[in-house]
Amino acid sequence: MEWLTDRAMLQRWRRQVQGQLAFVPTMGALHEGHLRLLRAARESPGRVIASIFVNPTQFAPNEDFARYPRTLEQDRLLLQEAGCDAVFVPSVAEMYHGSGQTRVQVEPLGSDLCGRFRPTHFQGVATVVTILLNLVRPDRLYLGCKDYQQLILLRQMVADLALPVQVLGVETVREADGLAMSSRNRYLAPEERARAVGVAQALAAAQQARRAGERRVEVLQAVAQAVLARHGIEQVDYVAVRDAATLAALPEGVIGDQDPVMLLAVRVGTTRLIDNRILA
Ligand code: PAJ
Repeated sequence: MEWLTDRAMLQRWRRQVQGQLAFVPTMGALHEGHLRLLRAARESPGRVIASIFVNPTQFAPNEDFARYPRTLEQDRLLLQEAGCDAVFVPSVAEMYHGSGQTRVQVEPLGSDLCGRFRPTHFQGVATVVTILLNLVRPDRLYLGCKDYQQLILLRQMVADLALPVQVLGVETVREADGLAMSSRNRYLAPEERARAVGVAQALAAAQQARRAGERRVEVLQAVAQAVLARHGIEQVDYVAVRDAATLAALPEGVIGDQDPVMLLAVRVGTTRLIDNRILA
């Protein structure tokens, strides 16, 4: 497995790749969720490259950039085991070579949902992923459905900018009790970890209500909110039910022919957790 720390190394490696290339961008602190993306990429023909870069521009000054977990040695072993061909691991200076004047904005999607609480976040994500795509030049980009708004937003960006890459969404990997795996789960104290199960249970309760015939967004949101409250999760940024392809609000607040997605963001202690589920 090639360990590529600067742009020149990446470009040399890229030049000798023949055939298809699949790309899995990450911020490291790898867990089974990331590895699922790697496996999906591995199963497709050609070579696989991952990146590890804790991107400062997608964190606000008051967020967890400094304490974001960095487990590079372990990540390297996991990627090797997963059959990754190369890893791009640039420094901040190496990633942001240019003047830094250009930003990629996907609006209004980037200001919706998580964007309301993290106003500069998606601009940071869209900009760094554009740079990564231009450097790596992959045929396929693998993203997790765990970060559903990120997936839809980057799909939109790729379409709007006619970037020559296919975007694939990979199903969310969960702990045994349903908690979506996340690098941030390690911030949770034992008592918080126990309460965090309420997030997946809130989505499950909404799903059940939907299966029982409920189509009103407001009612489904209330069902989820009640489960969160029962688990002592009181800091709720949002609970939303949206069109699963575009994240647009549902006309008249009622589910139509298409299965929508429920998305939520909460804080458990100081840890922000997001999750989502297609209400089928
Ligand atoms: P990061 O949080 O490290 O996630 C990297 C990829 O792994 C994302 O596509 C994310 O959706 C996926 N992922 C995370 N947890 C998952 C889970 N439990 N199941 C399935 N997939 C999961 O997302 C980012 O990094 C950054 O914003 C990035 C795209 C790398 C840009 O900096």
